[in-house]
Amino acid sequence: MGIYLDNAATSYPKPPEVYEAVYKAMKEIGANPGRGGHKLSLLASRIVFECREEIASFFNIPDSKNIVFTSNATEALNLAIKGILKKNDKVITSTIEHNSVIRPLTKLEKELNIKITFIQSDNRGSINPDNILPYLDDNIKLIVLTHSSNVIGNIVPIEEIFYHCKKKGIITLLDAAQTAGLIPIDVQKMNIDLLACPGHKSLLGPQGTGFLYIRSGLELDTLKEGGTGTESSSIIQPLELPERFESGTLNMPGIAGLLAGIRFIKKTGIENIRNHEIKLMQKLIEGLKNTKNLKLYGSLVPEKMTSTLSFNLLNLDCSEVGFILDEVYNIYTRVGLHCAPLAHKTIGTFPSGTVRVSPGYFNNEGDIDEFLKAIKEISERH
Ligand SMILES: Cc1ncc(COP(=O)(O)O)c(C=O)c1O
Repeated sequence: MGIYLDNAATSYPKPPEVYEAVYKAMKEIGANPGRGGHKLSLLASRIVFECREEIASFFNIPDSKNIVFTSNATEALNLAIKGILKKNDKVITSTIEHNSVIRPLTKLEKELNIKITFIQSDNRGSINPDNILPYLDDNIKLIVLTHSSNVIGNIVPIEEIFYHCKKKGIITLLDAAQTAGLIPIDVQKMNIDLLACPGHKSLLGPQGTGFLYIRSGLELDTLKEGGTGTESSSIIQPLELPERFESGTLNMPGIAGLLAGIRFIKKTGIENIRNHEIKLMQKLIEGLKNTKNLKLYGSLVPEKMTSTLSFNLLNLDCSEVGFILDEVYNIYTRVGLHCAPLAHKTIGTFPSGTVRVSPGYFNNEGDIDEFLKAIKEISERH
């Protein structure tokens, strides 16, 4: 089958419990959660409720009603950004953000004349809180930052940055696409007002899952309106969370899988998952450092990164490297810009991009050995 090293895009494989939970939810329950009071519908609602509760306890969210299920991190980010920002509002973000942040912001720049300030990271992709402090003032409505770059994996010191934002009354939105399930996140301790997460990456759930946490007291416009299974006599969208933002049938089988994924992480221990991935990254970085004609990007300190690494061979385009890895070695990586063009401009790899390699919990040291052997051969042959 090959070696999957593209976990920054989506994690694979999932724990066996996740496949079983999805199958069971489809085969044995099947009904629509929150619609109708029959036994199967109640069982479906129970799964959704339990997943919300599990997420709340995992991220120290005071009330699980403030968790809104979405189909991925992109939808969660769109809901947060478009729900909060109004005409002429000011927003801070950074140059290492994913397009799921940059594109909604640039759309609102055109349509609502919002003002965007981009905090420049250094050429290794690190963001220094001291560079942000001068921009923080009480005219800023929102700050939106990624917890970790999906190109170079460096972890952003969010707790320190958001502490200062809070003092200025700036609403904080964290894009935890690359960290949720891998790095502990406490929304209260870290002053996170809005937390956007995919369910399908390190939370180990199926594709088509994600959520947004919305702190109590924040008012957001809806991204979509429709049936919620509540207040059906009214033709106006309900105000209560989570239904206000969950119009339409939920991905119940996906949510069942996400619940199983989070329970797997709890059972295994997030620190054990992290330590295993750190070991893989140490081996990977050391091996690539010893490969001729190869340039590595980012901080290269596994403890300060997620399990995502970018590199280029000096004499071969990254798309060719990815193609050979796939075709000849059955090793699956991702090449190009990874939906983060500004990050590549920052590290000097725009427009061609990099080879991105991202191991996950289910990879082992043998996978890394195979990968390093393949890269060494490719580099020597070209
Ligand atoms: C930093 C970052 N933000 C947002 C996203 C979007 O996540 P999703 O694919 O769940 O919409 C990604 C996906 O790779 C990402 O890496």
